[in-house]
Amino acid sequence: MSPKWPATSDWKKHWLLSGDSVFLNHGSFGACPKLILKAQSRLRELMETKPVQFLWRHHDERLDAARHALAEFLGADAANLAFVTNATTGVNSVVRSLEFQPDDEILTTDHNYNACRNVLEEAARRSGARVVVAAVPFPLQSDDEIVAAILKSITPRTRLAMIDHVTSNTALVFPIERIIRELEARGVDTLVDGAHAPGMLPLDLEKLRPAY
Ligand SMILES: Cc1ncc(COP(=O)(O)O)c(C=O)c1O
Repeated sequence: MSPKWPATSDWKKHWLLSGDSVFLNHGSFGACPKLILKAQSRLRELMETKPVQFLWRHHDERLDAARHALAEFLGADAANLAFVTNATTGVNSVVRSLEFQPDDEILTTDHNYNACRNVLEEAARRSGARVVVAAVPFPLQSDDEIVAAILKSITPRTRLAMIDHVTSNTALVFPIERIIRELEARGVDTLVDGAHAPGMLPLDLEKLRPAY
C-alpha cells in the first residue's frame, strides 16, 4: 500500500516547490521562500545598477544593518556576530583559528554532520591531536542520555567540543544550554554547530553563551 498523501500546509503558498512531490529535505537543500527570493532579486538588481556603490561604498552599512537585525532575532550582541558563507565555513573559521597540540582531544558526537567532522579530522591530522567521538544512543529516552554520553567522553586533554544543536541525520534537538554549561564547568569550550536552529527554535545566544 502506498503511504497516504499528507494534507497541504497553509504555508505552501510561500514556496515555489512543485506540488507533485512532498519535500522533506529542508535540512540539506532547503528551498527559499518566495518573499526572500524577491528580496534577493531586488538586491541583485541594485548591485547591477550601481556596482561600486553596492559592493564598496554602501557594502558595510548594508551588512551592518543586516547583522543588527539578525542579532535581535537571535538574542545576540551584534558585536559578537559575523557573517560567514555557510555553516561549514563557520566551523572551519573557528577550528582553523585554534592551535591544537599533539595529544589534545577534540570532542564531538556520532550525530554530527560529516562535513564538520572532516574539519575536526583535518585539524587533528595537522596537529597530532585526536578526535574523540561520543556515542549518543538512538533512539533516546531522555536528554540525560545525550549529556551523559558527552560528559563521559571528556578527559583532562579535551580542548574543544563541537556539538550540534539540531542534529542532521537523526533530527534530535540536543539540550544545548545544559551541555554548554556542563562542559564549561569542566573547562571545555563548546563550538555549537547551530545549522537548523535559527528559525526552528527560539534562541537567546547571549544566554546560551557558547565559546563559539
Ligand atoms: C548540522 C549541520 N551542520 C552543518 C551543515 C552544513 O551546512 P552548509 O552546507 O550550509 O555548510 C549541515 C547541512 O545540512 C547540517 O545539517
